[in-house]
Amino acid sequence: MRANVKILGAGDCADSFDERDAFALDVLAGLSAAHKSIPSKYFYDEQGSELFRRITRLPEYYLTGCELEILEGQWDRIAALVAGKPFNLVELGPGFSRKTTLFLERFLKSGLDYQYVPIDISASSMGALVGELADLFPDLKTHGLVGDYFHGLKWLNHRFRRRNLVLFLGSSIGNFTRAESCSFLRSAWKCLNHDDLVLMGFDLKKDIDVLLRAYNDSLGLTSRFNLNLLERINRELGGCFDVEKFRHFGSYDVSSSSMESYLVSQERQSVFIEQIGRSFDFEAWEAIHTEHSCKYSLSDVEWLASQSGFKIREHLFDSCRFFADSIWSVDKPESVRQGTEGEAVAQSLGSDSRL
Ligand code: AVJ
Repeated sequence: MRANVKILGAGDCADSFDERDAFALDVLAGLSAAHKSIPSKYFYDEQGSELFRRITRLPEYYLTGCELEILEGQWDRIAALVAGKPFNLVELGPGFSRKTTLFLERFLKSGLDYQYVPIDISASSMGALVGELADLFPDLKTHGLVGDYFHGLKWLNHRFRRRNLVLFLGSSIGNFTRAESCSFLRSAWKCLNHDDLVLMGFDLKKDIDVLLRAYNDSLGLTSRFNLNLLERINRELGGCFDVEKFRHFGSYDVSSSSMESYLVSQERQSVFIEQIGRSFDFEAWEAIHTEHSCKYSLSDVEWLASQSGFKIREHLFDSCRFFADSIWSVDKPESVRQGTEGEAVAQSLGSDSRL
């Protein structure tokens, strides 16, 4: 008998499993659970991203304004940490935002030697971002990476080994549970080199009324943003949701110190989703959990850093102390440190820029 072993690579199954299947399977799993849920990463299709952009301009959604105040007022402290050597300014999940352009503009003006490396899973939003930046900053070196954050960071280490300053803004980390944050940060730590820097946004604990207003804005944009998840299921998976029969509910959970968002079914109903080939039953007032958005104390931030192998360099605050941008450096034991002298070797690997 002749036996063969075939090791399957990503390319072997490229046609059989795509993003839509992943979405359908996550919806199937989430709506089959005793407590229904849909992962918050699915908020950001074209409509959802546009609604989110509008939310960031609402005064009630203070997070963006506070972080912008920090970056605008204290960018020179960040610049001081990276001055002197060429570096990669890496941004995880960039939107085309004022926060990013502010960094790019100030860093360019101050003559720092860097290239901008946005990493995003969506090819279309990356295309748009890179295009807009090219118009705005003709002198900027941009190297957009489409893919998983950690694949991006690893690739960068082979191809452009320089010191990295990794931005993870907006308190996006808040969408992770504590356990997920630990694994996310440790994965980042593994992909980075000793003394690389990360700048992470954290929305701080504050008066509950301020939080409730931020996630239940008076224009109803957050409600539309949340309901867009059901509309997306209708568009992409042939769902039959009547969104009028659901309502947005945002509440603060004091025990986990997080804003939790739900879509609540206002009546008993059954909803068919074509791509999944079945219906899902909802009791009257049954909820779908759609987002966990954690709020932090400084000791939470410090705990996360030290648990995952980072040293805190600085905390930057806005004038209300509503938000913190915390700058950490990667701390690796002597035995696993690699210098940046690999740059020459890595550059010679060729100019193939695929991940
Ligand atoms: C982009 C995840 C930071 O949790 O505040 C805005 C998304 N949700 N309004 C957040 C969001 C509701 C936002 N993050």
